[in-house]
Amino acid sequence: MMEKATITIDGRKIQARYGQTILQAAREHGIYIPVLCDHPALPPEGACRICLVEIERQRTLQPACTFPVSEGLVIYTHSPKVIEARKFSLELLLSDHPLDCMTCEATGNCLLQDLAYEYGVTGDRYQGEKHQYPIDASNPFIVVDRNKCILCRRCVRACAYINGVEAISVFYRGFNAYIGFGADSTMQDSPCEFCGSCVEVCPTGALWPKMAIGKGRPYQLQKVQTVCAYCGVGCQIELQVRNNRIVNVVGVENAPVNQGFTCVKGRFGNDFVHHPDRLTRPRVRKYLLEGGKREGKERGEWVEVDWDTALDLVSRKLVEIRDTYGSDSIGVLTSAKCTNEENYLMNKLARQLIGTNNIDHCARL
Ligand code: SF4
Ligand code: SF4
Ligand code: SF4
Ligand code: FES
Repeated sequence: MMEKATITIDGRKIQARYGQTILQAAREHGIYIPVLCDHPALPPEGACRICLVEIERQRTLQPACTFPVSEGLVIYTHSPKVIEARKFSLELLLSDHPLDCMTCEATGNCLLQDLAYEYGVTGDRYQGEKHQYPIDASNPFIVVDRNKCILCRRCVRACAYINGVEAISVFYRGFNAYIGFGADSTMQDSPCEFCGSCVEVCPTGALWPKMAIGKGRPYQLQKVQTVCAYCGVGCQIELQVRNNRIVNVVGVENAPVNQGFTCVKGRFGNDFVHHPDRLTRPRVRKYLLEGGKREGKERGEWVEVDWDTALDLVSRKLVEIRDTYGSDSIGVLTSAKCTNEENYLMNKLARQLIGTNNIDHCARL
């Protein structure tokens, strides 16, 4: 069997691999087909019908995200029929949608909004019953607003295939279908591990990180790409910063290690940076400043000092201990919350200045 099929998309001949879908082949060749339920990291679902394309000799329009390539296919991605079908699907989705883009957290970062804009769909064509689901804000990290859910099932697949937890599923059918957690409990009471993979893939504002609410529109945020400091895996994350404060964290989509996904710590655990309990200036025990032995509770108390005072004291003590008891009487523990460069410098300090190989790091545990 031939490994490649020649297909024609919008008059352009391309070589597609057997086993690929039309959408995958189009993406590989930079040809745009809109999607809602499809996500490159997830298995195809064929739920939203936004990717419908016209294929010669096919009786009806076909979803590009599930239709496999074969030799000689001739495909039109933006024919009048296709555009009409996409508009119809969008109108149906918007007919049961709150349409509160003005105050919605997802504005500017919402595939549904982008497609409505692209196809000039306003959501006023079909009037009917709208759901009024209560908001589920039961857990510390993620707000669930089912009124904005388009049942694309990206979250269901992310939870099952990326995180392997299967905390989300679709309950009931037809107009009454909704996404639910565990045995239809709150997200907090479900097996959810709060990795946030579902939030990462949700194309609308239905799943949103609590920490980011009210903190700014995408264009107001400075985006800083960095490596998660929590463990040795090295997931790449994007810190979204406003007024010098981290307001949200997302995964970096094409990062070799994590492909846009993280664990709960990487995505939701970076608020320690601004935590009021965090020490930002050094402290030393009072008796170490005054000299002599630690006697009495009062002389053991912490005193805030400047960095020079603290570092002079530490280096003097380290030298004293090394000279009295030998280099190997000292051990150094470094932290995953420091940068690689800082940890490298600690290694230099231990081995070259103190003269010991007693150095370890919490990420190795
Ligand atoms: S989820 Fe998207 S389309 Fe819906 S209100 Fe929010 S921004 Fe608008
Ligand atoms: S946060 Fe993670 S574990 Fe929880 S529902 Fe979403 S994908 Fe599943
Ligand atoms: S919550 Fe988001 S990802 Fe999940 S089905 Fe609804 S719109 Fe899709
Ligand atoms: S993207 Fe193909 S059906 Fe949703």
